Amino acid sequence: MTPALPVLLCLGLCLCKRTRTEAADGLHKPSLRVENGPLVPQGRAVTLRCRGSWEAEEWWLEKRGGSGWSPMKSVRGAGNEGEFSLPSVTSNNAGTYRCFYRHSSYGWSEPSDPLKLVVTDLSAPPSLAALPSSEVASGQNVTLQCWSDWWYDWCVLYKEGEEITRSWTRSYEGGRQADFFFPVVNQTHDGTYRCYSFHSSSPNLWSSPSAPLVLRVSDAAAQDYTVGNLVRLILAGFVFILLGNLLVVHWKSFRGQPI
Ligand SMILES: *[C@@H]1O[C@H](CO)[C@@H](O)[C@H](O)[C@H]1NC(C)=O
Repeated sequence: MTPALPVLLCLGLCLCKRTRTEAADGLHKPSLRVENGPLVPQGRAVTLRCRGSWEAEEWWLEKRGGSGWSPMKSVRGAGNEGEFSLPSVTSNNAGTYRCFYRHSSYGWSEPSDPLKLVVTDLSAPPSLAALPSSEVASGQNVTLQCWSDWWYDWCVLYKEGEEITRSWTRSYEGGRQADFFFPVVNQTHDGTYRCYSFHSSSPNLWSSPSAPLVLRVSDAAAQDYTVGNLVRLILAGFVFILLGNLLVVHWKSFRGQPI
C-alpha cells in the first residue's frame, strides 16, 4: 500500500466532515477586516478582506449611507476570502462596511458584523503632553493632554496602535483639549502614545496622529531592593556568628576531652 492512500482517505473524510457541518448549520457568517488595521491615512491603498466559505462563488461589499446599505462591488475571491481593494483612500471611503458571499448550493450568507473604516491625516495633528511629566513612578497619577488648534470636539487616545479611550474636548487656550487622567499608573501604562482628533459630525474622518509621546513608568519597588539586600546581609551575618559560636563550642568540648 502506498503512503498516499491513507492521506487521500483522510483528506476525503475531512472534506466530507466539513461539508456536512456546513450543511448542518447553514452558512458561516463571514468576517470582514481591513489589512493593516481600520485606520487608513488619506491617499493610502487599502484592502478589505471578507472571510467566508471555500465554496463561495461570489462576494459583495456594502457601505452604509444616508439611505441604508448600498451595494458597492462584487469581486471574486481567492480561497475562502473575497478581496476588495481601494487604490487610494479618500474621505468618501470612510464609513461602515459589511460583506456577504453566495454559496454554490445554499444561496446568500447572512452579513458580516459591521466594520468601521476611519480615514486619517485629514487635518493638522493635535499635540500630546504628559503632566506632571512623561517619567513617573509607579503608583503616581499622570494626565495625558491632547490639544488641537482646530474645531474638532473629540480626541482619541492610542497606545501602540490600539485605541485606549476617547473623550469630549473643552475649549482651552484658543483650541480644544481633552484630559486623559490616570489616577494610579503601573508598568502596563509604560509605552508610546498618540492622539487623534475628529468632529462629532464626521466620526470617521480624523486628523493626523500627534507626535509620539513616550511614557516611562519607573518601578517604585526598585528602592525596596536596597532594603531587601540589607536584610539579607544582616541575616547572613547572623548565620556567620552562629556558625562561629558552634565552632568555638565544638573546639572547646574537643579540647576538654581526655587524650
Ligand atoms: C496627583 O499626584 C500629585 C502628587 O504627585 C498630587 O499632589 C495630586 O493631588 C494628585 N492628583 C489627584 C487628582 O489625585
